Amino acid sequence: MVVLKTIIKYLLGFFILIQLIPINYEDQVKTDPALEMKAPPEIMAVFKRSCWDCHSNNTVLPWYSHIAPVSWTMSRHVDLGRKWLNFSTWESLTPEEKDKKLGEIYTAVFVAMPLKSYVFAHPEADLTPDERKMIREWTGKAPF
Ligand code: HEC
Repeated sequence: MVVLKTIIKYLLGFFILIQLIPINYEDQVKTDPALEMKAPPEIMAVFKRSCWDCHSNNTVLPWYSHIAPVSWTMSRHVDLGRKWLNFSTWESLTPEEKDKKLGEIYTAVFVAMPLKSYVFAHPEADLTPDERKMIREWTGKAPF
C-alpha cells in the first residue's frame, strides 16, 4: 500500500508538473477575410464542419485542449494541419499551389481526413460517403 501511495503521489506530481510546460497555441490568428477559400456554399459547409479546427486560422479549442498531455497532441495537429493546408489563406496560393493542394484534398477525403481522433471527440465532423464524393468531384481530380 505504501508503495502504491508513493507511486500515485509521483504520478500526480508529474501530471501537475507537465501542466507548466508552455505550448504554443494560437487558436485565433488574425487573417484578411479576403484570403479565405472561395468555394460553393455546400463545399465550404463541409470544410467548416469537418476541417476548420485544424486547417484554418480559426480554431475552436475545447477545455481539455489546455490540459497536458492532450494539449501536446492537439497543438501539434493544429500546427501541422495549418502548415499542410490552411483554408484561411487559400486565396494567397498560386494557381499551381492550389492545384497541388486540390490533389491532396482529393486523396485525403477518401479516409484519412478528418483525423479519427478528432471524429471520436466530434462525431458531427465525420463525412458521409456522399459528402466525400462531393468533395472529390469538386476538386476536379481524376481517380488514380
Ligand atoms: C484534428 C485535426 C485535423 C482535422 C479535423 C483535419 N485534418 Fe487534415 N491534417 C491534419 C494533420 C495533423 C495533417 C498533417 C499530416 C498528418 O499528420 O497526417 C493533415 C493533413 C492534411 C492534408 C495533407 C495530406 C497529405 O499528405 O497530402 C490534407 C489535404 C488534409 N489534411 C485535408 C483535410 C480535410 C479536407 C479535412 C476535413 C474533411 C481535414 N483535413 C481535417 C489534421 C486535421
